[in-house]
Amino acid sequence: MDLVSTRIHSIILLFLVLSAVVEISVADVPETEPVPAPWPEQFHALMLMNKSGSLEIVDLWYDWVNGRNFNIIQKQLGKLTYDLEWNNGTSFYYTLDASRTCRTVHFEVGILRPNWLDGANYLGQRNVSGFLCNVWEKVDFLWYYEDVVSKRPVQWIFYTGREAHVMTFEVGAVLEDKKWQAPVYCFHNEKKSIE
Ligand SMILES: *[C@@H]1O[C@H](CO)[C@@H](O)[C@H](O)[C@H]1NC(C)=O
Ligand SMILES: *[C@@H]1O[C@H](CO)[C@@H](O)[C@H](O)[C@H]1NC(C)=O
Ligand SMILES: *[C@@H]1O[C@H](CO)[C@@H](O)[C@H](O)[C@H]1NC(C)=O
Repeated sequence: MDLVSTRIHSIILLFLVLSAVVEISVADVPETEPVPAPWPEQFHALMLMNKSGSLEIVDLWYDWVNGRNFNIIQKQLGKLTYDLEWNNGTSFYYTLDASRTCRTVHFEVGILRPNWLDGANYLGQRNVSGFLCNVWEKVDFLWYYEDVVSKRPVQWIFYTGREAHVMTFEVGAVLEDKKWQAPVYCFHNEKKSIE
């Protein structure tokens, strides 16, 4: 073999080795796992909650833009209760009936961030309530089910067993400002304050 054909041989060999390496690395790349859609910065959702058989309708107004989150809770055949949460960690939990109760709670953290599901573990797909869902687990907190096609949340289930079923999901809906005002007895009537 002359020098030229040796050289051509080694070039072809190198090419074959390289293409094999490329094929292997392509085959080794795992299919990327789906990640949950971040929450829209503002939305309105009607939710059916089931806490071991105690049912509630929750009217949820998530408003990250203004740093606030509102759960208006109707317990079955029970009281209408308002859970108003601010991003500074203050929550007001009150009724607007004659009992005029209000409890103020201070949390270390504010409301959920739109990307609060980041880092959740993907568990695969499941059919729930007639929707094909991707399922993730946020360890020590909950399982989250998102519609594969629309990317809307369908349900989440807390470790405590409390289930939240999403009935409506209106992206961009915002509750008018005056509805976010906790009643005056949350601020002045210390005797009515439980905390
Ligand atoms: C609520 O959850 C309980 C289990 O904790 C179940 O037995 C019951 O059927 C559920 N109720 C509704 C209306 O989904
Ligand atoms: C947090 O913000 C709300 C609404 O502006 C306010 O009523 C509350 O006093 C604030 N809490 C603190 C600890 O500043
Ligand atoms: C969901 O249901 C559809 C239709 O019945 C079925 O084809 C599919 O395999 C199911 N997927 C899962 C993950 O159970």
